[in-house]
Amino acid sequence: MSDENNSSSSPRNRIVSRIPGFYRLTIEERRKALRLGADLSGEDMDILDGGGIDATSADRIVENAVGVYALPLGVALNFRINGNDVLVPMAVEEPSVIAAASNAARMVREGGGFVADADPPVMTAQIEVMGVVDAAAGRARVEAAREELLAMAHAALPRLAERGGGAQELEVRVDPHCPDRLIIHVHIDCRDAMGANMVNTVAEALSEKVARLAGGRSGLRILTNLCDRRCVRVSARVPPAALASEGQDGAAVRDGIVAASRFAEDDPYRAATHNKGIMNGVDAVVIATGNDWRGVEAGAHAFAAASGRYRPLAIWRAEGGDLVGRLEMPMAVGTVGGTLQVHRGARLAQRILGVTDAPTLGMIIASAGLASNLAALRALATEGIQRGHMALHRRAAANAPHNDEKPATVATTAAKTSARMGGRT
Ligand code: MEV
Repeated sequence: MSDENNSSSSPRNRIVSRIPGFYRLTIEERRKALRLGADLSGEDMDILDGGGIDATSADRIVENAVGVYALPLGVALNFRINGNDVLVPMAVEEPSVIAAASNAARMVREGGGFVADADPPVMTAQIEVMGVVDAAAGRARVEAAREELLAMAHAALPRLAERGGGAQELEVRVDPHCPDRLIIHVHIDCRDAMGANMVNTVAEALSEKVARLAGGRSGLRILTNLCDRRCVRVSARVPPAALASEGQDGAAVRDGIVAASRFAEDDPYRAATHNKGIMNGVDAVVIATGNDWRGVEAGAHAFAAASGRYRPLAIWRAEGGDLVGRLEMPMAVGTVGGTLQVHRGARLAQRILGVTDAPTLGMIIASAGLASNLAALRALATEGIQRGHMALHRRAAANAPHNDEKPATVATTAAKTSARMGGRT
């Protein structure tokens, strides 16, 4: 991990992510605490009601717009990542995700917090050349023109080069499934952008030239979402005492979580659900920060299957008596460009996080993923997820217009659950 990536870019390292009793506050009181904690302005606070875009902005973002679709936005507490506290905004419709992540982050905090690092923000353009008569000779010609092609890529993105990014490397493969197809990868440092537009620009700018050099015809030219050069890694160490649950000591819970991890490592059906639990945390932050969650999802699952067998993105082991979890996944997210230009809610989420660079954002997102995974496995290894999950579901349903259940009863049960799952800070 580079020094640049090791330290959070947050200028507000004084932030405290532990806010005892946050869950018990009214929404207005929580907003006050958030405003104070994240140093937000009155204008920022107005965004919380509107969600960040109105119909006019929606009309600028998509076609045939008719309105705006909202999701709940919450903040997960207790996160400490590489020594810095961070309040984590999460946009998600599933009850218990934010409480569970907060609760798991509190356990991890007792072991010193999350330790994360990120690769440089390198995305990959794929250029397909079809109908290549002599693939080996075509490959050699493209490789020999490497410098010229990289210069063309730089010229296509002059402003990126000024910011220290740009095309770095070019690789040529002969497709083992189709010997007359060459696949050219151009690796591009996208700095703080997610990078899809830049990468696609390069793919299109180089495609005809590459096809001519290879002696074939130009095929597809677009990024790959399997951006395995842009991975993020996060680990967490949890002392057994922090894991203890009603009727089960911490060591037994630790061993249950390790067994659950091994089940996911052995069985792809379980691995898919294990990874869904990770993506509960990942997607909620990706969405809150205005990033492309379909791209992150595609990258995650392709990476999980890259060995030829679908694997869990995070695994857990007992080490020196503690529970230790490690997660690695591609993370194509940005802090500039795209939706951020038009979505005030996404910009607010970034201000809450206090991040301005993409690698740090990626490390926070992955930490939310590992926390969500820990919470799910701990629940599964102990009482099961339904008790907590359903109480929170009932609270949501109680507030639905069609529901006749008594809200007060439901709210009491839900408060207890929330305290068990995350509010108990
Ligand atoms: C539910 O949203 C996620 C879980 O199914 C994840 C898991 O089983 O690990 C609880």
